[in-house]
Amino acid sequence: MAAEPSGELMRLVNGYQVSQAVHVAATLGVADLLTDGPRTSDELAAATGTQPRALYRLLRALAALGVLHEAEGQRFTLTPMGAGLRSDAAEPAGPWAAFIGTPAHWQAWGDLLHSVRTGESAFRHVHGTDPWTHRAQRPAESAVFDRAMTGLSRRAADAVIAAYDFGRFRRIVDVGGGQGALLAAVLAAHPAARGVLFDQPHVVSGAADVLRAAGVDARCEVVAGSFFDAVPEAGDAYMLKSILHDWDDDAATAILRSCRRAMARGGALIVIERVIAPPNEAPETKLSDLNMLVNLGSQERTRDEFAQLFATAGFRLADVTATGGVVSVIEGAPA
Ligand SMILES: C[S@@+](CC[C@H](N)C(=O)[O-])C[C@H]1O[C@@H](n2cnc3c(N)ncnc32)[C@H](O)[C@@H]1O
Repeated sequence: MAAEPSGELMRLVNGYQVSQAVHVAATLGVADLLTDGPRTSDELAAATGTQPRALYRLLRALAALGVLHEAEGQRFTLTPMGAGLRSDAAEPAGPWAAFIGTPAHWQAWGDLLHSVRTGESAFRHVHGTDPWTHRAQRPAESAVFDRAMTGLSRRAADAVIAAYDFGRFRRIVDVGGGQGALLAAVLAAHPAARGVLFDQPHVVSGAADVLRAAGVDARCEVVAGSFFDAVPEAGDAYMLKSILHDWDDDAATAILRSCRRAMARGGALIVIERVIAPPNEAPETKLSDLNMLVNLGSQERTRDEFAQLFATAGFRLADVTATGGVVSVIEGAPA
């Protein structure tokens, strides 16, 4: 057996410290405060209302990790990596960083052992309910999560649009589309298409700004509801990004059946998700799978598992397109 590369295991073991350090910097908005150039840690402490010495200790740790750069006089700048935390980053990581350290999510991960022992959601074990119900009752937490989803969809959008031809569709229904970041990018890239954004009422109520900023609000209807009841009808494309991985097979089948019932003749099912890779590859996807277990008692799926799920719901798996990013486009057609 090869010797352990020096310190690598301990870096993995202590990874929680890095997560929380980046989370705090994101929550304080440090990256945006550095947009116009270097600032001292004292200036940043005054701007963020934090204790100067403690903030300096956070910033120097982030500089040692390559997120910031520290120069003479405790002056800090963003590195190219740290620039991904700016709110105007093309592929923003800040909203996700702001979410992952929030108490409800962090505490659920703190009970991973429960999930591994039982196969059940640690979130439900810790908080007594599922994340959707928890957030529906807590608007501030819901807003942090919705921004995180918008950030992740912005990160994925260019690669998805480059890899998959949405140009043949006229009415694209985004099922569980959050606040519309991906649908807005698809509609912006395809001016002849119209969209329908569908999600829970308290989620779509925050979508107008995202759609307006992309200049697609006139071509996009916004509909509130539950995909377990029904989804908007007569789309020729039903897009589900990061939806099926939130649910077990029975619930995921019910969502797909809702799409099947509503779909126009010859319509397409466009599932955008991670696909579990062969053994020893793609840790990001396998950790996302654990994230699904911890939060929802659900899972990421292999290609074969998607094919099986599609078949149960009345679709056949037509194609899987890698995007070069973390997600793939898994296309289904009515069976
Ligand atoms: C992981 S997020 C993905 C959001 C978006 N598709 C994206 O990738 O950015 C899952 C979405 O499912 C929505 N959702 C959960 N339960 C739902 C329900 N019963 N009906 C409709 N949407 C639901 C959530 O509000 C959330 O926006």
